[in-house]
Amino acid sequence: MGITDWSHNSWYHRLLLAQVPDGAQRVLDVGCGAGTLARKLAATVPQVDAFDRSPVMVEEARRSAPPHLDVRVADALTVDLPPGSYDAVLSSAVLHHLPLAEALPRMAGWLRPGGVLAAVALPRPDLPRELPVDAAAAAAHHALGLAFAAARPVTGAELHRHEDAHDAMPVQDGELTTRQVRAEAGAVLPGVRVRRLLFFRYLLVWQKPH
Ligand SMILES: C[S@@+](CC[C@H](N)C(=O)[O-])C[C@H]1O[C@@H](n2cnc3c(N)ncnc32)[C@H](O)[C@@H]1O
Repeated sequence: MGITDWSHNSWYHRLLLAQVPDGAQRVLDVGCGAGTLARKLAATVPQVDAFDRSPVMVEEARRSAPPHLDVRVADALTVDLPPGSYDAVLSSAVLHHLPLAEALPRMAGWLRPGGVLAAVALPRPDLPRELPVDAAAAAAHHALGLAFAAARPVTGAELHRHEDAHDAMPVQDGELTTRQVRAEAGAVLPGVRVRRLLFFRYLLVWQKPH
């Protein structure tokens, strides 16, 4: 990891947080890793639940969790959570670890009617179709990396620095292109929206019908 490297997951946390309905009382973070997104959620949401199947990540996430952030070891494909109980279910860089046809209906089931499922995850490169966006992303990644590295000592801000636990975090490449994700997700969640984001990610958003 070079000095100009930075976290695309952190960059897209704000986009995920923007999907949470106003006045949300209870939100779930699926595959919370070291807990960065869950802690950001907990700054405004009265009850945040988070889980990850990696005990190492859960220990890391618990280290700095406030009392209203509950973190546990669990697997998205088997965890037993009360159906219909969350205003939003969020997930950052995890969906591409999961079989969509199995995972998405489970995540949707935890939402109350009107609740929002929002996930950012990694697509497989869709070449040559997405070559222009990937080239632009690579150039912007390096330019921003240089700017962040220069600004950190001056401002003291994190500026999307990788978490300390980054090297221990389970990662995986995307196996589906954004178009394939759109098709697979649409088959189990009618009305789902999936769009490609600049920095090697896609955004999936679905609102549970009332
Ligand atoms: C790339 S990390 C992302 C972590 C965090 N959400 C973030 O944005 O920094 C992917 C995480 O998904 C977790 N994960 C993968 N498959 C999972 C599953 N079936 N159930 C729960 N967590 C899972 C991994 O343990 C890992 O912490």
